[in-house]
Amino acid sequence: MIGVIELIKKSDGNPFTAGDKAMIEFLAGRLSLDMEYADLLAGSQREARHRVMQMKLSTVLNSTLDQREVRRRAMEAATALMDADVGSLLLVDEKTGDLFFEVALGEKGSRLKEIRLKMGEGIAGWVAAKDQPALVNDVENDRRYFRQAGVITKFVTRNMVCVPVRSKGKVVGVLQAINKKGGGAFTEEDLENFMTLSHQVAVALENAHLYGELKETFVNTAAALAAAVEKKDPYTGGHIKRVVEYSSAIARCIEGDAGDLEQLRLAAVLHDIGKIGIRDSVLLKQAGFTPDELETMRSHPLVGADILAHIEQMGEVRRIMRSHHEKWNGSGYPDGLAGEAIPLHARIISVADAFDAITTDRPYRKAAGLDAAKEEIRRHGGTEFDPLVVAAFVEACETGDILISKE
Ligand SMILES: [Fe+2]
Repeated sequence: MIGVIELIKKSDGNPFTAGDKAMIEFLAGRLSLDMEYADLLAGSQREARHRVMQMKLSTVLNSTLDQREVRRRAMEAATALMDADVGSLLLVDEKTGDLFFEVALGEKGSRLKEIRLKMGEGIAGWVAAKDQPALVNDVENDRRYFRQAGVITKFVTRNMVCVPVRSKGKVVGVLQAINKKGGGAFTEEDLENFMTLSHQVAVALENAHLYGELKETFVNTAAALAAAVEKKDPYTGGHIKRVVEYSSAIARCIEGDAGDLEQLRLAAVLHDIGKIGIRDSVLLKQAGFTPDELETMRSHPLVGADILAHIEQMGEVRRIMRSHHEKWNGSGYPDGLAGEAIPLHARIISVADAFDAITTDRPYRKAAGLDAAKEEIRRHGGTEFDPLVVAAFVEACETGDILISKE
């Protein structure tokens, strides 16, 4: 029973009849049917809304393979789906077993990052240790509550839902939504939806992790290949590492879009890989090349591009590698490209490469200091080098982003 209908004093002054009773019983029956129907409708509408939201969130979560971005989106999804003020993602530190706040949204987020929870400590720690969800609508009176978090962040936690994030059967983190908006309470239905979200977050995190590992393996393999070339030439030890460092520093100072920095780093690692195909008698010669030898030496950007020809994903890196000896005025090789026809990353590597050559000892001359090298690069802006890249390079030197690396 959900209620009672009461009719008092018939308006015509007569007593109620059996007919009146039958009529009101019929109306009460009708009313309860309508109410039940409205309840069902509201429930299924809410469920449909959640399904649509979950589908959208799943698409958003899985449309990136960047680990940091997945974590950030997981938090946004938690906050939106739970209609909560704050959301956070805690991850398990594999070494110590502690939980740390990887991402926390909201203005108190940055202070939360200072907090680490031991396994079992606080509500989130309990969730991780027990591998069970928690729905707590009265946090103040929950004995698991970790009061220090509130003291540090000066944030009042009223209620929260907290679910484990599992990967390959192991708890890797905890997803948390704090304070239902509008002063409301979290429900069992919220908790169920949050569990579904945590599965989706786990899959997205796992995918991003695998992709990250794959990429790292690839970059390390590329670096090993590059190191093999470097070993052939004792005068260029550490050259690749420095060119990668200088190129990244220049890119950070480029005005406007410097493009994909990971791609730049990879191209910088591989830029001289073509030297692997050049015979030592030519490669190890420092000066006095015959025209033939010079031509062989200058074939290394093409050889490098050929080496990568069968790796489809390396198309742009090949283009950069091929063009790292082109000059802004068109007098470079192998294609004589000029100006912006040369890929930006090749223009950057070209400055970084030259700077390293000037600032390291060679058998036929001593290394130049930072100021002299900077001046020499600046002098060639507009002829050999892109003036905008030179400006970024000068800025990177002036801000201390580029120092002569001793390695
Ligand atoms: Fe080169």
